[in-house]
Amino acid sequence: MDRYLILNGPNLNLLGTRDPHTYGSQTLADVEDACRSWGAELGVQIETAQSNHEGALIDTLHDARLVYDGIVFNPGAYTHTSYALHDAIDAIGIPTVEIHISNVAEREEWRQKSVVRPACVATIYGRGTDGYRAAIRHLFHRSEWPAEVVRYADHADGVMDVRRPATEDRRVGVVLVHGGFWRHMWTRDIMDGLAVDLARRGFHSANVEYRRLRTGGGWPVTVHDVTQAIEHFRTTANLESLAVVGHSAGGHLALMAQAGATSPYLPVSLGGVLDMEHALAEDIGGGAPRAFLGGASPADASPIVHAAAGETVVVHGTADDRVPVAQARRYADVNDQCEYIELEGVGHFEFLERSDPAWMRVVEVLTRRLQT
Ligand code: DQA
Repeated sequence: MDRYLILNGPNLNLLGTRDPHTYGSQTLADVEDACRSWGAELGVQIETAQSNHEGALIDTLHDARLVYDGIVFNPGAYTHTSYALHDAIDAIGIPTVEIHISNVAEREEWRQKSVVRPACVATIYGRGTDGYRAAIRHLFHRSEWPAEVVRYADHADGVMDVRRPATEDRRVGVVLVHGGFWRHMWTRDIMDGLAVDLARRGFHSANVEYRRLRTGGGWPVTVHDVTQAIEHFRTTANLESLAVVGHSAGGHLALMAQAGATSPYLPVSLGGVLDMEHALAEDIGGGAPRAFLGGASPADASPIVHAAAGETVVVHGTADDRVPVAQARRYADVNDQCEYIELEGVGHFEFLERSDPAWMRVVEVLTRRLQT
């Protein structure tokens, strides 16, 4: 059984009363309780610690050696200044996820810099206290089926997690493209569980990162990143057959990335944004399509216009409250080679849970369509 330490730094003992608008209304005890139950869901043992003192945090990190398999660490304001904490994380060699409750990238300039980040295996921020859950799950999925982090481009987001199946006789692969309305605080960790599930089922999987809004992305840069990642994976894993599965805004990218690809793949959209003109008109994702387009015409960046031919799979739930099912219906109407699957009563996020029937349905499609 894996054992993780949830370590909180200065001022986090005041959670619940400290600036609730920024940090939420949960107390530290609430967050620690929630972490224990999130750990229990995965069969992981969770222990917690908090200190306001840099030296005490360093001692706790040293004592974690040979005890814990992973650490979720919110260093508070020490994040922005403490090279000593960076060195401690680096020295102990335990996979550590840096976590921030608030959206540090959109706050004061001094909070946008983290000196501990280079020593950490991932950074999760801006997702409220649910970010602790994401961090625990990331550690768990790393440990249950380790990935090789492969660089496909020379920028910070030009990376993907490649997982190989136990037996490599089938040269069949799946690229996963995460969603999050192209916003920077959503990263590929949300697809980790699916990436492991696919490897377990005999697929080579690549969970790709790409530049997002505020990290150099937007139209058309983000689409090019995804194309480049797909090409890199296909050639390095020597694949005969490939699907690119995108969730939400990742569905948009999975379809649009085809234009620049050197050979076809099967694009699969799960709750995807497929009609940019309507997405803009209906202001889905709280202004995200406008920010993504940055002044470009929505028609130029719309799958329903530019990826409306060729074999595609579109899966959408009728109860999706983030991306309306009408997007998928309109797309399926114009592309007669689209296998359209509408899931009654399913919402936007069920696809991300590998035990959910919505994801099972996707696995069934991939298994059938990617036979070699
Ligand atoms: C924080 C962000 C830091 O900038 C701040 O000093 C904190 C909390 C967060 O969780 O958002 O104390 O780490």
